[in-house]
Amino acid sequence: MQSIVVIPGDGIGPEVTDEALTTLEELGLGFGFDVLSHVNADRYLRSGTAMTDSDMERVRQAGAVLFGAVGDSRVRTADYARGVLLRLRAELDLYINSRPARLLHGRLSPLRDVSRGAIDCVIVRENTEGLYAGVGGALRQGTPHEVAVDEEISTYRGVSRVLGYAFSVARREVCMVDKSNAVPNGGRLWQRCWAEAAAGYPAVAASHLYVDAAAMKLASHPAAFDVIVTNNSYGDILSDLAAVLAGGVGAAASANINPDTGFGLYEPVHGSAPDIAGQGLANPIGAILSAALLISDRGHSAEASAIDRAVRAAVAAGRCTPDLGGSLSTKEAGAAVRAELC
Ligand code: NAI
Ligand code: MG
Repeated sequence: MQSIVVIPGDGIGPEVTDEALTTLEELGLGFGFDVLSHVNADRYLRSGTAMTDSDMERVRQAGAVLFGAVGDSRVRTADYARGVLLRLRAELDLYINSRPARLLHGRLSPLRDVSRGAIDCVIVRENTEGLYAGVGGALRQGTPHEVAVDEEISTYRGVSRVLGYAFSVARREVCMVDKSNAVPNGGRLWQRCWAEAAAGYPAVAASHLYVDAAAMKLASHPAAFDVIVTNNSYGDILSDLAAVLAGGVGAAASANINPDTGFGLYEPVHGSAPDIAGQGLANPIGAILSAALLISDRGHSAEASAIDRAVRAAVAAGRCTPDLGGSLSTKEAGAAVRAELC
């Protein structure tokens, strides 16, 4: 039996993950689920460790991870999130973060002028290097002379493989986004790898934008993009913008994958949303669509498409949570999607 590790996490993480899990169970695809409900901020506060080595071992044994969100206002250091999500991304070498943004319904886009067209693109974010690699340090902390350094890491291997993946999934065009006019060293490496990758895919159009121009174009011409490939930090920011243009952060899904090993961690784009946790207000669609990405990568693309259609039908009927203009609770919204599946 194929096994999936489930890490619900904190805040709304368990609420939305529950709906995603129930949806997968209802499809009856024969997966076994290993739920690590103890990986959360409570345990970190008690023991100082969020993910133990034995948790990591259970993750390694499974084919994939379905993830909720981590984050808790009682934890003030970056060590907790790094110890869970960044540890999983780094140790499993999940170098692709793929974030599809396809308009859920016309009424949901902040850009309702249809002549601008509906967004339907994928942001491919480099997921293991860049500014989030954790290289740097601080001097004279807490004094008026404090110096803080966070270095942006780009490697030939890391950049080449994410660019190659972007071309391999493109339907018509890959737009590479960097800031090579202002960040010269990394910029030069991205530009070199970009030219090499583009040469390998002559049938796919290749374009380039600086990140500030890319943000403007996403807002002004959202339908222009097919695949956007970029580094860790720009991908983080642009994909939140794309998520809002496609229907809202509560509905956005993502896949953290290593196409070479087949390992994947699937999670909604949103965080633990402590402002709405425990109130039944969380939109489960981002988690449910993340579960659809998981089963699609595990050979069940027909069932994944069925989930996608069910989500769209529920939203079109207004059977969704308040963030999408509906009045259903998290559980009712999950059930509304499942009702469309039958
Ligand atoms: P957030 O995504 O949790 O919330 C941002 C806003 O969107 C909030 O107003 C929230 O209510 C709303 N929202 C988020 N998900 C929603 C949903 N499913 N349905 C309806 N509304 C939703 O981001 P924020 O507030 O910046 O971070 C909160 C915590 O989550 C922090 O501790 C942060 O570090 C953590 N975080 C964790 C992530 C992860 O586990 N991958 C990603 C982003 C943040
Ligand atoms: Mg983000």
